[in-house]
Amino acid sequence: MSYKDIYTRSLKDPEGFWAEAAEGIDWYKPAEKILDDSNKPFYRWFRGGELNTCYNALDRHADGGRGDQLALIYDSPVTGTQRKFTYRELRDEVARFAGALADRGVTKGDRVIVYMPMIPEAAVAMLACARIGAVHSVVFGGFAAKELATRINDAKPKVMVSASCGIEGSRVIEYKPLLDEAIDIASHKPDATLIYQRPQATASMQQGRDFDWVEAAGAATPAACVPVASTDPLYILYTSGTTGIPKGVVRDNGGHAVAMKWSMKNVYDVDPGDVFWAASDVGWVVGHSYIVYAPLLHGATTILFEGKPVGTPDPGAFWRVISEHGVKVMFTAPTAFRAIKREDPDAEYLQKYDMSGFKALFLAGERCDPDTLAWAQDTLKVPVVDHWWQTETGWAVAANCLGIEHLPVKPGSPTVCVPGYDVRVLDENGNEEAPGEIGRIMIKLPMPPGCLPTLWQNDDRFVESYLSANDGYYLTGDAGYKDEDGYLWIMSRIDDIINVAGHRLSTGGMEEVLASHPDVAECAVIGAADKLKGELPVGLVVLKAGVKRADDDVIAELVALVRQKIGPVAAFKKVAVVERLPKTRSGKILRGTMKKIADSQEYKMPATIDDPAILDEITQALIRIGYAK
Ligand code: COA
Ligand code: AMP
Repeated sequence: MSYKDIYTRSLKDPEGFWAEAAEGIDWYKPAEKILDDSNKPFYRWFRGGELNTCYNALDRHADGGRGDQLALIYDSPVTGTQRKFTYRELRDEVARFAGALADRGVTKGDRVIVYMPMIPEAAVAMLACARIGAVHSVVFGGFAAKELATRINDAKPKVMVSASCGIEGSRVIEYKPLLDEAIDIASHKPDATLIYQRPQATASMQQGRDFDWVEAAGAATPAACVPVASTDPLYILYTSGTTGIPKGVVRDNGGHAVAMKWSMKNVYDVDPGDVFWAASDVGWVVGHSYIVYAPLLHGATTILFEGKPVGTPDPGAFWRVISEHGVKVMFTAPTAFRAIKREDPDAEYLQKYDMSGFKALFLAGERCDPDTLAWAQDTLKVPVVDHWWQTETGWAVAANCLGIEHLPVKPGSPTVCVPGYDVRVLDENGNEEAPGEIGRIMIKLPMPPGCLPTLWQNDDRFVESYLSANDGYYLTGDAGYKDEDGYLWIMSRIDDIINVAGHRLSTGGMEEVLASHPDVAECAVIGAADKLKGELPVGLVVLKAGVKRADDDVIAELVALVRQKIGPVAAFKKVAVVERLPKTRSGKILRGTMKKIADSQEYKMPATIDDPAILDEITQALIRIGYAK
């Protein structure tokens, strides 16, 4: 069937379409209702069904003919080690660790925060939670203690799982002091922590609260899979919102399993037994969906890579992994390819490797610029697919679905709506824009299985943030247009979220941190274009009257403060001290205009600007720190 036929059917008969896809999953009890729409605007998939996500990801393969097939390959150039797990071995590890969690009192519905580097134990911890019906919440290692504490207070975990350290290139980053500090700051306290001691650093343990992973798993009885309701939460993943308080995106068990499994063949054209590699981090949605769950639910082999595209040890790292492990399809962010291209523009490292088994590259996480797309295509000589999605949806909203039909590529566009998604571009009054006209990108409800049903214990914020702009539609937060052929073009965000190396960050959150400094009267953070990372945050601050200290001293403190409060991942390093900020007459800071100035783009003088002369001052300040050239 053509893409068009499949897509049309998915919208005309969503229940029939997804009921068929649900046959790819093993259920203890089939759903009574495929799509429950009795409580709009909340929709629930596979109501009444019971399953276990870990059973579907591991046991059914381990016991069903794939027991000796590799489930997970851990490749770590930063430690010079590799470990391989068959489906049977991974199931057994997970069952033992699930037993260790159960020994600490974790049962169905309890939350477990996982703060881990890119080691197999991160995936083991996630799957172990799924096995006993606990809800995991993985927090990315590049976040600071305060960000971790915010998530502890919201998720209220019974247990936390961590490791002694992460390794960033050649640097060992101790995790345990961050974990201890976060628990100190948080008002909620977990009962216990389970810590994986890595040879590169030894975590100091608090008697009675902290337990050694290996000892705890060794002493535990393997736990069995616990049936959960399709609508029960599998995980919470916090993502940046427009304030400093992150949003707890909830993922259910049933809809998620069905969508993940379906996407592996239809979107990525991967078959059971193939090797699939998502070079991301388990702390992001890409890691949840495409390092851990989808490849395993599909019976494929997944790769967990602890390294970077460059410097571990060279820009040939990706090609080595692809050829050494027989990767068929890879997924990463465009920034990784920009990093490789910068160091090895003629792809000389590629000549060393046999890439004959490699069939496709998928890119997402940020806009894919046509230059990067062209370079990847010319270099790898395989289809390069830009696809668009977000933490909230959990899987692709727009893509060139290689498993259905390879449509013509338009560089700069993530192609067309994935089956199940009815994407519309609306104007401020809720009317559909004509082709080519930019508007808000919305998804008509119901969204397909796998998308967030709500925010963790916050239905009101879910409705307010996503469903209140236009009745019956989900607000993606992106702006763009559809062309005459139905291709989507994602142009920018409509909120203050920026995308730094594929990492989603809130400028509002950074402004809150800057404003907390005693010398700062006012501030703004904008996302300025960056050749490598897509965007980088730039701070503009007005100091309080009477501050006598050197600007550079205050700037150094502000940079350190953002690193300490949000984390190194924010990559906040550029600050300009200005006399005043440009505002509208009603007092709204003109961030959009400042961004245009920073990016050296033409801008229109805002009609409502209070004092146009300020823009010259801003331009000069931005020039001083390397922008607005
Ligand atoms: N734990 C602790 N610190 C971390 C971390 C972690 N898990 N991950 C990143 N950091 C730190 C880095 O060490 C760096 O610190 P620094 O300021 O001291 O150098 C900072 O956070 C920024 O990290 P990163 O964005 O990774 O930048 P980089 O300069 O080290 O590497 C790229 C640049 C492009 C190579 C890198 O961003 C990359 O590989 N991106 C791939 C994209 C990706 O995985 N996106 C996820 C969504 S698909
Ligand atoms: P995250 O939730 O971290 O995955 O970030 C999601 C956001 O990243 C989206 O809302 C977009 O703004 C941006 N994004 C992700 N993929 C793409 C893409 N292929 N093209 C353009 N923007 C993208």
